[in-house]
Amino acid sequence: MKKDIDKLIRGNIKKLVPYSSARDEYSGTDATLLDANENPYNAPYNRYPDPHQTLLKQQISKLKGIDPVQLFIGNGSDEAIDLLFRIFCEPGKDNAVSIDPTYGMYQVAADINDVDLKKVPLINDFELDINGLQDACDDHTKLLFICSPNNPTSNSFDPEKIIGLAEKLNVIVVVDEAYIDFSRRESLKSQVAALNNLVVLQTFSKAWGLAGIRLGFAIAAPEIISFMGKVKYPYNLNMLTMDFAMKSLENQDKVNQWIENILKERSSLERKLKRYRFVEKVYPSDANFLLVKVRKPKKVYNYLIEKKIVVRDRSNIELCEGSLRITVGTILENKKLEKALMQYQRDFVESCEV
Ligand SMILES: Cc1ncc(COP(=O)(O)O)c(C=O)c1O
Repeated sequence: MKKDIDKLIRGNIKKLVPYSSARDEYSGTDATLLDANENPYNAPYNRYPDPHQTLLKQQISKLKGIDPVQLFIGNGSDEAIDLLFRIFCEPGKDNAVSIDPTYGMYQVAADINDVDLKKVPLINDFELDINGLQDACDDHTKLLFICSPNNPTSNSFDPEKIIGLAEKLNVIVVVDEAYIDFSRRESLKSQVAALNNLVVLQTFSKAWGLAGIRLGFAIAAPEIISFMGKVKYPYNLNMLTMDFAMKSLENQDKVNQWIENILKERSSLERKLKRYRFVEKVYPSDANFLLVKVRKPKKVYNYLIEKKIVVRDRSNIELCEGSLRITVGTILENKKLEKALMQYQRDFVESCEV
């Protein structure tokens, strides 16, 4: 059943008259452009970029099998997260719900926008607490964040359960699929046509190896996308990013090869990590990283830092006690890590055992 999205949008946003740029008012080609107070020298970078990102939108839509009107492109998917708070949540009044533990930017964006984020802990080996999530939603809840595969727990969730929540709840359900290209599960992007309160976030920062150019996107019903287009900064994507992205999108074969390499290395690293005596658990992963529970996590972390190997210490996070998050690297990088951990075992584990 379609939801009344209009009812969820903040009043001031519904009334917003978006900024009209020079490029909005004239979009033809081969004109003498004296309308945007640009410098006439230093082409092509003297010109403002296309605020509608028409060409890139066409290309990404084709890649994802969606309609361009279902697509918002941003300066990383972090931009989309912030925009969703600004569009739907009245500061100091509305709230959002998320699973816990999860990606830290939902909390930061909530705090910046003065929105209470209610966290519902995962249950039984990092599964969704469906009843808990439903109970946490009240009349002022506008957004529900589910990251799948989830950072930092590395598992993904049953899509049917997420669809069930979107069907049942009168909130915007945001599914963050930053790691979907590494997952055994299918994206929920195909559900957006039927569920107008579902927003799927994806990014080029992970499988596409483009974190440095900042490019992420949201797939949702046109009514949501149109508000995202109105609230974003007019030129949120720069020309260099768009040009580079359009070239990179032709590299699908290379990206598939990277994904294959990373998945192969993930299995190999998982197997090897399980052999160390100080490793208590390697959680099953559906992403490009492993959550690894170790004895004395701070000591392992500091030892690796000394060896100039940086992993993420997640041991202070609830439900991830004792855990380090390790990104899967190249064969060489993973070997370096394995060697360092082997040395750690010899120096600190075996010597204590004898
Ligand atoms: C779950 C999740 N979503 C989004 C992002 C950020 O994506 P982007 O680089 O597109 O802003 C990250 C980055 O680590 C992430 O883990």
